[in-house]
Amino acid sequence: MPSLTWPSKALPDLKPASLTLDSLIYPRGFGYPDASPDSHLFLGDNLRIMASLIPEYENRLDLIYADPPFFTNKRYPARIGRGEDSRHPQEWQMAEGYGDHWENLETYLDFLYPRLVLMYRLLSPHGTLYLHLDWHADAYARLLLDELFGRERLLNEIIWTYHGPSPIRRAFNRKHDAILVYTKGADYTFNANAVREPYHPNTIKTFASSSKAGFGKIPDLERGKVPEDWWYFPVVARLHNERTGYPTQKPEALLKRILLASSNPGDLVADFFCGSGTFPAVAARHGRRFLAGDVLWRAIHTTRERLVEELRTPFTLYRETVAAIPTESLPCPVVVSSLNISLKDPPALDYWEIDPAWDGKIFRSAIQTRRPNRSAEIPLEIKMPAAPTNVCVRAVTVDGCLFQSTSNR
Ligand SMILES: C[S@@+](CC[C@H](N)C(=O)[O-])C[C@H]1O[C@@H](n2cnc3c(N)ncnc32)[C@H](O)[C@@H]1O
Repeated sequence: MPSLTWPSKALPDLKPASLTLDSLIYPRGFGYPDASPDSHLFLGDNLRIMASLIPEYENRLDLIYADPPFFTNKRYPARIGRGEDSRHPQEWQMAEGYGDHWENLETYLDFLYPRLVLMYRLLSPHGTLYLHLDWHADAYARLLLDELFGRERLLNEIIWTYHGPSPIRRAFNRKHDAILVYTKGADYTFNANAVREPYHPNTIKTFASSSKAGFGKIPDLERGKVPEDWWYFPVVARLHNERTGYPTQKPEALLKRILLASSNPGDLVADFFCGSGTFPAVAARHGRRFLAGDVLWRAIHTTRERLVEELRTPFTLYRETVAAIPTESLPCPVVVSSLNISLKDPPALDYWEIDPAWDGKIFRSAIQTRRPNRSAEIPLEIKMPAAPTNVCVRAVTVDGCLFQSTSNR
């Protein structure tokens, strides 16, 4: 059996992250203050984060979606403020996104391989891994996955096709990604009926016009078909409401198909390269519990904003203790009056949240508000369901700076 080797190839040296609980978030107040969270978001390097999850979660994750950097050797800036709206290029404001720069293929494989090993360990015996890459490194990753899972555990190689402009003139336009799907065991979750799609109108017409079509095998045209292993979904672009401004954001429709096919409601799913949070947002919408993480604060901030809209159960935000985020006092007054809390002339905000009974230790976010994508302004006043006692406000500016202020009534 051929395998891929390179001089520095090594199994992961387990150095678990030291985690600090940043906050407990009750989306729009759901579950506040007693419900206990069963989904978790992590800020930090996923090698150390996954290592720290091994004792509790080894063999427990039902589905992992992984969309790491692709070995493109490019930088991917984020669009912030109203900059995510491609209809208004004059308003684009760019900020640092994530980098996909490597000295050479070896350093990239040194990054990918130990993370795949940990994902394999975290998957449950019925679990499935979807590894999303493209032509830059998918061939190498496939050999690594064959080694870890066994060749016979390759369930599919999914080709996601899309279209869009390209500067390429001396080759065909590169408009597909490869998603390698491996199951940990022979007995795995696959919900064919959850992902069926209508037959092509030509197929329906053919069966209607001839009794000989299909050589006597008549498909259930009403029920629809299990999709092929090549999928067309448009990339998140221009007029899509789901666009966050975070680079290389994947379409919700693509990740929904993966989620519905390979997990069940209540399952525990994970995405340790979550970026803008598409996968945990889709998972939350469909009743799955999740673990999600990213090394960039901007990614975690964007994911949290999406989750507070999707979820009806609390989730936690942990950060690697080394990933402390500099936090200053809000440079504006926080006004607390019986049931209202308002901010007077704050800097341009993306998001703010309130702990109405701050104990000085764990921030319990009981209510949140975010700047709606594109048009409207963020509300600067929040009505509380009950009179707050000891108020702590946390806010994130459009630039991604963090502020925290307390105010006693
Ligand atoms: C292709 S993007 C993911 C996009 C995401 N699927 C979405 O829909 O928005 C890759 C992500 O991996 C993150 N990343 C890179 N290295 C990481 C590491 N060592 N630990 C955790 N996240 C990492 C980057 O910050 C980036 O957000």
